[in-house]
Amino acid sequence: MSTPEAASPTAASITPATGKLGIMIPGMGAVATTLIAGVEAVRRGLAKPIGSTTQMGTIRLGKRTDERTPLIKDFAPLAHLDDLVFTGWDIFGGNLYDAAKHAQVLDRDQLEEIRPFLESIEPMPGVFDQHYVKRLNGTSVKQGKNKCDLANQIRNDIAAFKTKTDRQVMIWCGSTEIFLEQTPAHQTLAAFEKALVDDDPSISPSMLYAWAALKEGIPFANGAPNLTVDIPALRELSRKRNAPVCGKDFKTGQTFIKTVLAPAFKTRMLGVAGWYSTNILGNRDGEVLDDPESFKTKEESKLGVLDIILQPELYPDLYKDLYHKVRINYYPPRGDNKEGWDNIDIFGWLGYPMQLKVDFLCRDSILAAPLALDLCLFLDLAARTPSLRGLGIQEWLSFYFKAPDSAPGVYPEHDLFIQSMKLKNTLRHIMGEDLITHLGLDYYGE
Ligand SMILES: NC(=O)c1ccc[n+]([C@@H]2O[C@H](COP(=O)([O-])OP(=O)(O)OC[C@H]3O[C@@H](n4cnc5c(N)ncnc54)[C@H](O)[C@@H]3O)[C@@H](O)[C@H]2O)c1
Repeated sequence: MSTPEAASPTAASITPATGKLGIMIPGMGAVATTLIAGVEAVRRGLAKPIGSTTQMGTIRLGKRTDERTPLIKDFAPLAHLDDLVFTGWDIFGGNLYDAAKHAQVLDRDQLEEIRPFLESIEPMPGVFDQHYVKRLNGTSVKQGKNKCDLANQIRNDIAAFKTKTDRQVMIWCGSTEIFLEQTPAHQTLAAFEKALVDDDPSISPSMLYAWAALKEGIPFANGAPNLTVDIPALRELSRKRNAPVCGKDFKTGQTFIKTVLAPAFKTRMLGVAGWYSTNILGNRDGEVLDDPESFKTKEESKLGVLDIILQPELYPDLYKDLYHKVRINYYPPRGDNKEGWDNIDIFGWLGYPMQLKVDFLCRDSILAAPLALDLCLFLDLAARTPSLRGLGIQEWLSFYFKAPDSAPGVYPEHDLFIQSMKLKNTLRHIMGEDLITHLGLDYYGE
C-alpha cells in the first residue's frame, strides 16, 4: 500500500485559494486582537507583517547554484491577506476596538487608524464554565441544556459564518484551561459524543469548540496548552472529516529560545546540569495562569521540551541529572510585556561548569500574532491539499508549538531548525519540488 508520504503529489492537485477565508477565533483577547488589528494594518500598508513566515519567509528550491528562492506566499497557494474575514467568540461583550484597548498591546494611535474596522467585529457569546478557568467570570455566555446543546449552538454560529465565507479555519486563542488528563470519554468519537449529552466533566469548553469545528469539516489549531484536540476521539473526527489538526500552545518566548539553545548544547555534546526559567507577566493571560490549575497545564507544556530534545536516555553522562524548573509570576505593572529569565548551568570538557543567562524582554502578543496568522494560512492550505488533509495531525506545523502533535508512538520534534526544515520540505513535497537534504556532494563532482 502506498503511504501518503510515498505518493508524489503535484501542485495541480491542490485546490486554489479562491474566495474568502473565514478565521474563527474562540477567545478574542490580546493575541486575537493583535492578530486582527495587525492583518488590517498590513492590508492598508500601515505596517509590515514581521515575524510571519508565510508573509516574509522565503524557500530555497533546487540547488544552491539555481538561485531560486521565492517568497513562501508566492510559491505555495496560500490565501491572500485581503481575503481574510474574522469572527469569534468571547465571554466579555463589546467590540474588538474595546478588547484591543483593554489588552494594551498596540499603541493608541495605531488602533485609532483602524478603529472602524475593529469596531465592526463583535465576538459572539462564548461557551464557558468557570470550573475550567477559575480566574474569569464572563457575562456574554451561551446557555444550554447540556454540553451537546452548547456545542450545537457553536455549530449554528459556524453554519451562519459559512454563508459569508468560502472556507474556514478555527484557532483557539482563549484562556488556558485547568489541567485535564485523558479519560475513557476521550478515547473514541462515540464515547465523546455520548459524554457531551451526559455533561461529562472531562469535556472542557475548548473541546466543544474543537468538536463543532471538526464536525463541520473545519481545521482546528490550539494556541493554548489545553488538552482540547489532543485526544483519540477528536483525532478520529479530524481524519474522518478531512479537517486537519496540529499541536498546542504557541511557541513564542522562553520556549522558543529554549528550543534553539538546547539543540546547540546537544550538538556540541555539552552537558546541562540545570535550567531555571522564570517569567513576570501582567496581562489577563498572566492572571489566568496565576491559578495553580491553569498553570499546571502550561507547566506541562513548557517542561516537555528539554527531555525530548536532550534525550537523556541516549546521553546519560550529559543530561540524566538535569534539573528543570519553570515559573510564571503574575505581575500587573508589566502588562503584555513579559520578561523571561533563564539561568542555564552547563558543563564542558572534563566536566568544568559554565553558566549562560538569558533575559528576554519580549512582547507576548507581538510574538504570538504572526504565528496565529501562519497557522490559519497553512491549515487552510493543508485542507486544500489531498496528500495532507486526510492525515489528521499536521506534524509539519510543529514549528509553531510548545507541544507539537505527532502520531501515536512517534516522539514530537522540538528542535526549531528541524521543525523549520520539516515545514519547508513539506511545502516542497506538496508542490512537487525536490526535497532539500543538505547532502551537497554533487557540487564537488566532475
Ligand atoms: N501571547 C503568547 O505569547 C502566548 C504564547 C503561548 C500561548 N498563549 C496562549 O494563548 C491564549 C490567549 O492569550 P492572550 O494573551 O490573548 O490571553 P487573553 O486573556 O488576553 O485572551 C483570552 C480570551 O479568551 C477568552 N475566553 C476564555 N475562555 C473562553 C471561552 N470558553 N470561550 C470564549 N472565550 C473565552 C477570555 O475572555 C479572553 O478574552 C492563552 O491561553 C495563552 O496562554 C499565548
